[in-house]
Amino acid sequence: MDASTRHLQAGDTLCVTGASGYVGTHVVIAALEAGLKVRGTVRDPNNDAKCDHLWRLADELGARDRLELVAADLLMPGSFDEALKGCDGLAHVAAVARFSAKDRQREIVDPSVEGVSNVYKSAAKAGTVRAVAHTSSVAAIVRYADGRKGHVFTEQDWNTESQIPDDVYGYAKAAAERAAWAFTEALDEDKRWRLCTINPAIVIGPTYTRAHCRTSPQIIRDLMRGSFPACPPIFFGFVDARDVAWAHVRTLMDPQATGRFILCDEHGWMLDIANHLRRLYPGKTFPKGRLPKLVMLLAGIFDKRIELKLIRRILGNEVRYDSSRSRDVLGVKYRPFDDSLRETVDTMVQGGWAQLR
Ligand SMILES: NC(=O)c1ccc[n+]([C@@H]2O[C@H](COP(=O)([O-])OP(=O)(O)OC[C@H]3O[C@@H](n4cnc5c(N)ncnc54)[C@H](OP(=O)(O)O)[C@@H]3O)[C@@H](O)[C@H]2O)c1
Repeated sequence: MDASTRHLQAGDTLCVTGASGYVGTHVVIAALEAGLKVRGTVRDPNNDAKCDHLWRLADELGARDRLELVAADLLMPGSFDEALKGCDGLAHVAAVARFSAKDRQREIVDPSVEGVSNVYKSAAKAGTVRAVAHTSSVAAIVRYADGRKGHVFTEQDWNTESQIPDDVYGYAKAAAERAAWAFTEALDEDKRWRLCTINPAIVIGPTYTRAHCRTSPQIIRDLMRGSFPACPPIFFGFVDARDVAWAHVRTLMDPQATGRFILCDEHGWMLDIANHLRRLYPGKTFPKGRLPKLVMLLAGIFDKRIELKLIRRILGNEVRYDSSRSRDVLGVKYRPFDDSLRETVDTMVQGGWAQLR
């Protein structure tokens, strides 16, 4: 394949895996806005609760005729053959975005890592895919618990520490991204697509379904609900879902884009986020003060969705990311953090999925 043709243009067809999910929905919107045709994969296209919003959003953009939804499962070899047939590009967004499970290998690692193999094999079989945007994570850059005071992590860093028992999500994201690079590099030069990975920090911004509020916006919902008596000493990097989605589409359409791109704008402690929210919503209640690490551990006040071994190391730990490559190479112009926070809250309230107190 000629290197100068490994990019997408308006009118080309993009397969978006995990189209109904939180990040996937935003990638579908950004792709339609860029004039692409979108073939989104979902596990069940007849599940209205998960898919209706995509049709509504396509209608709002006047782009219903450029959206298709097809069924595919990451764990079934060959399942993506139909979805990728004739596609010019792939945004591989689908994965299990959970930090804990009864059977961590089967429920979290396999859909991510076997998923890459299954999806990429179907893409290679199609023979028409010229560019791939792979949704990775900062979890593939560094184990969340391994921040080093004063150190800022870049695309040069790889998470080599996470293991299935302590940080299954970090393990799965790093293994899946390595599998994506290895698969691509093993393709014959004339069949090799241009691969970029998008490595976002915690994603916030508009939610469109109840299920979206159970992924990263859950952090904001916990603060609205007062799930903790005060703010756990947890440090986050944040990015707006629309900036993440725009970066996916940009890498697909820019023939010069290569490599990994960290997507992160604002950093802060959970208490900083609660203080921002208090300023944006005067008169509403958000947790005040910081919960001491020892009190949290002794009282068992931690998020049961995250492994205890990981929580012990996350508390009080500051991890910072350098996203200058996304600005300088891709031209990402990050939205103001207050807008992202406000729209996360407002869409959850409007959807009836969370209330302000
Ligand atoms: N949210 C964040 O803060 C964040 C940060 C960095 C990276 N990411 C990455 O972004 C991607 C999307 O995450 P998200 O936050 O948007 O979570 P999400 O809303 O749960 O989306 C995950 C998507 O993956 C699909 N999926 C899960 N298992 C599948 C399977 N066996 N076969 C086919 N599809 C399957 C889901 O489909 P169904 O609708 O059928 O369940 C869903 O559409 C993931 O790769 C995640 O690692 C997210």
